[in-house]
Amino acid sequence: MTNPEKDERSALIQIAIEARKKAYVPYSHYPVGAALLTKSGKIFTGANIENAAFPVTICAERTAIFKAVSEGELELEAIAVVTKNGGTPCGSCRQVMAEFNPELKIYIANEKGELVQETQLKDILPGYFGPKSLVP
Ligand code: THU
Repeated sequence: MTNPEKDERSALIQIAIEARKKAYVPYSHYPVGAALLTKSGKIFTGANIENAAFPVTICAERTAIFKAVSEGELELEAIAVVTKNGGTPCGSCRQVMAEFNPELKIYIANEKGELVQETQLKDILPGYFGPKSLVP
């Protein structure tokens, strides 16, 4: 039997594993790959890109999200994030995710492609400050 949700998850994880190979991580040696699915069905990949000025580093998740948004794709459906050990998105990436979809599905996997956690943005950033927070 087919399971579209599971197929989507496995496909995104495999794409994130490939994207992770493009990480530029001379300082941390901690490559991260991301694969972002938009509601229109497009997939945007991301990897972390470090910098000698350390704080300028960009995470894999934000690379993928900024690629999508800069191409006019603002409706985000799901993101897979792959690290060596199943690390979770950092606070800055969670905040960027909250801007576009508090219900964003998040698949966290390790480098073997094993699912470590499946969650939603609003569950890992409760009480987030979002666009509606600015409305009086
Ligand atoms: N990193 C990500 O790409 N995503 C996260 O959510 C956590 C951290 C990167 C930033 C840095 O290049 C390396 O992982 C170690 O912090």
